[in-house]
Amino acid sequence: MNNGELIDEINTLKKKKNAVILAHYYQTAPVQAIADFTGDSLALAVSASKTDAAIIVFCGVCFMAETAKIISPQKKVLLPAHDAGCPLADFATKDAVLRKKEELGDVAVVSYVNTTAEVKAVSDICCTSSNAVEVVKAIPQNRILFVPDRNLGEYVKENVPDKEILLWDGYCYVHTAIKKRDILKIKEKYPHVRLAAHPECNKEIRDMADAIGSTTGIINFATQTDAKKIIIGTEQGVTYPIRKKTPEKELFILKDAICEDMKKTNLIKLRDALLYEQHEIKLPTYILKSAYKPIQKMLELKI
Ligand code: 13P
Ligand code: SF4
Repeated sequence: MNNGELIDEINTLKKKKNAVILAHYYQTAPVQAIADFTGDSLALAVSASKTDAAIIVFCGVCFMAETAKIISPQKKVLLPAHDAGCPLADFATKDAVLRKKEELGDVAVVSYVNTTAEVKAVSDICCTSSNAVEVVKAIPQNRILFVPDRNLGEYVKENVPDKEILLWDGYCYVHTAIKKRDILKIKEKYPHVRLAAHPECNKEIRDMADAIGSTTGIINFATQTDAKKIIIGTEQGVTYPIRKKTPEKELFILKDAICEDMKKTNLIKLRDALLYEQHEIKLPTYILKSAYKPIQKMLELKI
C-alpha cells in the first residue's frame, strides 16, 4: 500500500469511527499533515477538552495521551505508538514527589504536564512550557516545588524572582543536547541569524536566545520575525509548520535535537490504531479523578 492509499484509509476510518487526530509539533511531517489539530502541549490539551469526537487518536507521547484521557475520561484515547514515552516525565515518581513534599513541609507542587498521571494526581496545579511562568505567578502559594524539569523550573525562577522555587533534578535529553558551540558556529557564519529556544534548553542556550517559548512560541517567532535565518532551539519537528507558513525562511536545525519517542508514530501505526482501536489509554478511576484537579486548575486560569 502506498502513502496515498494509507492516507485515504486513515481518513475513511476516522469518519466512520467519529475520531479526531491530534498531533504534537514534534511528530513527523506526514503525521502532522494528516492530523485534525496540531499544537503544543497546552493547545492539544485544550483541543482534547473541546472535541465532541468519540475517539481521540493522540500522535505524541504517553503523558500527552494520558492528559487527554484525564480531561475526557468518557472518550476512547488511543496512542498509536504504544511505547512512546517521555524520559523527562520518568524523572519524577509519585513516591519521590510525596517524600520530597514531606521533607520540605509547606510547599505547592507545580508539575509540568510532562509528568505521569500518578505525579499529576499528587500535584497542586499543572503547567506547560507556554504558561509555566504565568501559572506560578497566578497561584497564591509563594513556596513552590517545580517538577520535573530543572531548566524550565530555573527559567520560571528567573521570571518570578519574588517566589521561592525549589527545583527537581530532571531534564530532557533532546534539549540538553543542544550545544553552545554549534550555535556559535552558525552565528559566526551568519551574524544576523536569530535563535528561538525552548525553555527546556540549558541556561547558556536560553541566555543566547532572541526568543524563548513553547513549540507554538518558537513557531510564532520564526514565522513573524523579519529575520530570514533562524536557529531552531528545539526538536526538529517544528520546522514542518514553520516551512508551511514561511517557506522562504532558512532554518538551522541542531544535530541530536530529535526526540526518538515522538518519531515512533508513523502512518501505518496511526492506521492500525484506528482500525483495531488499539493502544487505548486506561487509568484507574481514582487517578483520573485526582489528576483532573491540577489540570482543570491550569485550564481554568486560561493562560
Ligand atoms: P511544548 O508544550 O512546548 O509543545 O513542549 C512539549 C515537549 O515535550 C517539549 O519537549
Ligand atoms: Fe519528552 Fe524531551 Fe521528547 Fe519532549 S522532547 S517529549 S520532553 S523527551
